[in-house]
Amino acid sequence: MRLLLFTGKGGVGKTTLAAATAARIAARGRQTLVVSTDPAHSLADALAVPLGPEPSEVDTALVAAHIDARALVDRSWPSLRTHVARFATGLGLDTLDAEELTVLPGVDELLALTEVARLARTGTWDAVVVDCGPTAETLRLLALPEAVAGYLARVRIIPDLRAAAAVAAELADHLAGLRSLLTSPATAVRLVLTPERLVAAETRRTLAALTLRGIPVDSLIANRVVPRARRWHGPAAAWLRTRRSEQDTVLSEMDGLLPVARVEHRAGEPIGLPALLAVADELYGDTDPLAVRTGHGPLLAITADPPDQVLRIAVPLPPGTAPDLARIDDDLAITVDGVRTLIPVPLALRHHTITDAEADDTGLILRFTPVD
Ligand SMILES: Nc1ncnc2c1ncn2[C@@H]1O[C@H](COP(=O)(O)OP(=O)(O)OP(=O)(O)O)[C@@H](O)[C@H]1O
Ligand SMILES: [Mg+2]
Repeated sequence: MRLLLFTGKGGVGKTTLAAATAARIAARGRQTLVVSTDPAHSLADALAVPLGPEPSEVDTALVAAHIDARALVDRSWPSLRTHVARFATGLGLDTLDAEELTVLPGVDELLALTEVARLARTGTWDAVVVDCGPTAETLRLLALPEAVAGYLARVRIIPDLRAAAAVAAELADHLAGLRSLLTSPATAVRLVLTPERLVAAETRRTLAALTLRGIPVDSLIANRVVPRARRWHGPAAAWLRTRRSEQDTVLSEMDGLLPVARVEHRAGEPIGLPALLAVADELYGDTDPLAVRTGHGPLLAITADPPDQVLRIAVPLPPGTAPDLARIDDDLAITVDGVRTLIPVPLALRHHTITDAEADDTGLILRFTPVD
């Protein structure tokens, strides 16, 4: 089973390209599910069929659904309530009520991700394609297993909180399961962008944040590239040529990071299966959309060089990033684009403090000196 996640800045074409990819995989005879975790239910609009929370057939081998996080919260409430009550009592708090729980940050994302994992693990589909919605929400979604696990680990080690700790342990196991799905070699994130500077800058930050979390991004997809106007004449053709050449410049700067696939800006909106399949043809050509491109591109690599007391963290940071670092016990907290990742400080550098941190195109370089 392959899990493909599509994300990117608002309006760049995530829903369209997730739907096109799923349509293409299904057309090659693989059982395919395409789901959206985005509360703005536009997957149904792109496929031009009504969709609900249960997977429904769109075409041979293709089913689709809109995950409704709100409904999941309501449906899960009876069992969540028991857990929350035990957890809250263990912490010496009054039981939270349903309304309070549902405004806790992350509950919607956690349930949406849990639902994706449940569907992916049913074994029904060869591919599960997820339209994750805009980057900020997706990063919250994908960062959650680790962030919550970090808090839970702290609860688990406080003996007075035994009742809460038992619930924390259950939840931590659940989060570990979600995390292993996200970081599995069968999972790939495809980042969608439009060829504009601001969008490219956000894409780089997202790429860095996901890489730091160990979530593999396998390619970038540049959507709405203006067509080449080689044999056209007149002011409109000149405008198109200028626009295209600016777009090529922006994309050439991204090319070194990961492979960038290109989809042209079409005259008509790609809505419905035939139009989506035409987009997929342009995007994938003869290649298999299920093939995850590995073996190149950025990977989080940490190398410690004790003699020099230097820690190198190879992560594709956007140019000019000032690293936001904090030391928490034996971990180093690195924050990129609002997403914090904990990286264990190697044993050899534990009794050291950080004296200098810089970022270059190889990643982060941290210098340490021993504590006297
Ligand atoms: N290559 C393309 N050519 C022409 N129109 C396109 C192309 N790709 C997407 N569109 C259109 O652009 C609009 C936005 O696309 P889409 O809804 O897929 O973006 P999105 O990234 O999912 O947006 P949101 O962030 O709102 O979820 C839609 O009307 C879609 O039909
Ligand atoms: Mg969308």
